[in-house]
Amino acid sequence: MEVFPGAFHLPGYLTLEEQIALARRCGTIGGEPAGFYTPTVRYGARMRLQMVCLGLHWNARTYKYEKVRSDYDGLPVQPLPDDLKALARRVAAETGMEVSPDLCILNSYTEEGRLGLHQDKDERAETIAAGYPVVSISVGDSAKFRMGGTRRKDPLRTFILRSGDAFVFGGPSRLRYHGVSGILPGTAPPQLEIQGRFNLTFRQY
Ligand code: SIN
Ligand code: MN
Repeated sequence: MEVFPGAFHLPGYLTLEEQIALARRCGTIGGEPAGFYTPTVRYGARMRLQMVCLGLHWNARTYKYEKVRSDYDGLPVQPLPDDLKALARRVAAETGMEVSPDLCILNSYTEEGRLGLHQDKDERAETIAAGYPVVSISVGDSAKFRMGGTRRKDPLRTFILRSGDAFVFGGPSRLRYHGVSGILPGTAPPQLEIQGRFNLTFRQY
């Protein structure tokens, strides 16, 4: 469903089996040596989530992408697996958009997790100008995802992103402000055997 021009909510995109497999995979990736950590952003605030990047690491101090986690432990970033790239391409194609993702930010939210309003604008200027979409896939607990306009003060709409949902924003929606205002605890399908929420955002650098 197109919720803004160039922004699409695809509820239930993943089957339950795919959700179970992806949730396990997120746990494994996060448990690797270059796995989950809590980023500290500019001005010293700790983010209210855990993060791990694949393909390229997003440095929370400089807001730039790099090959090693120089704002945290200096470890090389884990690669972005081909099958996850292919999944993101398929999701984008479903909305009529194209993307060649070379990085993914995997966030893990507990029931207290949230993410302030921001724009995804640290990718290459050319990529953003061309409107290549960000592809978001969620598993686990549902989240209150807010999206507004290209100015911080623009009115916000709230979408509940449930386990298995995809959300794609590109074209004229590529720079819309968005964030996660809360997690709905205990809403993950029980078969996933997880608490909390994983969200993967695939991006082209
Ligand atoms: C993000 O904006 O980078 C993540 C959004 C989400 O967790 O749904
Ligand atoms: Mn974002």
